[in-house]
Amino acid sequence: MPDKIERTVVILKPDAMQRNLLGEVIGRFERKGLKIIGLKMIQLDDMALDEHYEHHKDKPFFKELKGFMKSVPVVVAVLEGYNAISAVRLIVGPTKGYEADAGSIRGDLSISGSSNIVHASDSEETSLAEVKRFFKEDELFDYAKIDYEFLYSERERKT
Ligand code: CMP
Repeated sequence: MPDKIERTVVILKPDAMQRNLLGEVIGRFERKGLKIIGLKMIQLDDMALDEHYEHHKDKPFFKELKGFMKSVPVVVAVLEGYNAISAVRLIVGPTKGYEADAGSIRGDLSISGSSNIVHASDSEETSLAEVKRFFKEDELFDYAKIDYEFLYSERERKT
């Protein structure tokens, strides 16, 4: 995959909401240099979750996962940055908190195999589908970020 500026979707799950971790998690993405181009609170429903977790529909934990994800509103965000999809997955860490490296969001903040704080798009294809699933065109913002000159090289800014 060539290096490029990408968009990725993150969902701050009900455990992040309940454990007062929104600022902590969003702050980590901001400090990494990711640009927030969309951000809102939504209540997930069966329709959205059946689509979002379609690949897990036959798993034994599917019903529990849906119940958890709709237990309270969640925060969804679109983050933009250089190779953002893989960079965000690294910051988030692997699915199970108890296996995630210290320093990652799940490694530092979660010890569960399922209540794992945040969802992040896992590929370019997924990211495109998730942006469309959760955001309307006019909920995404194109604005100049003044730190870009220092976050990126001139070449990277033009990719
Ligand atoms: P994520 O990888 O973001 O997307 C699928 C979610 O399903 C995962 O995070 C967990 O929240 C949940 N999940 C994965 N495996 C299990 C499991 N074995 N039991 C319960 N929930 C799970």
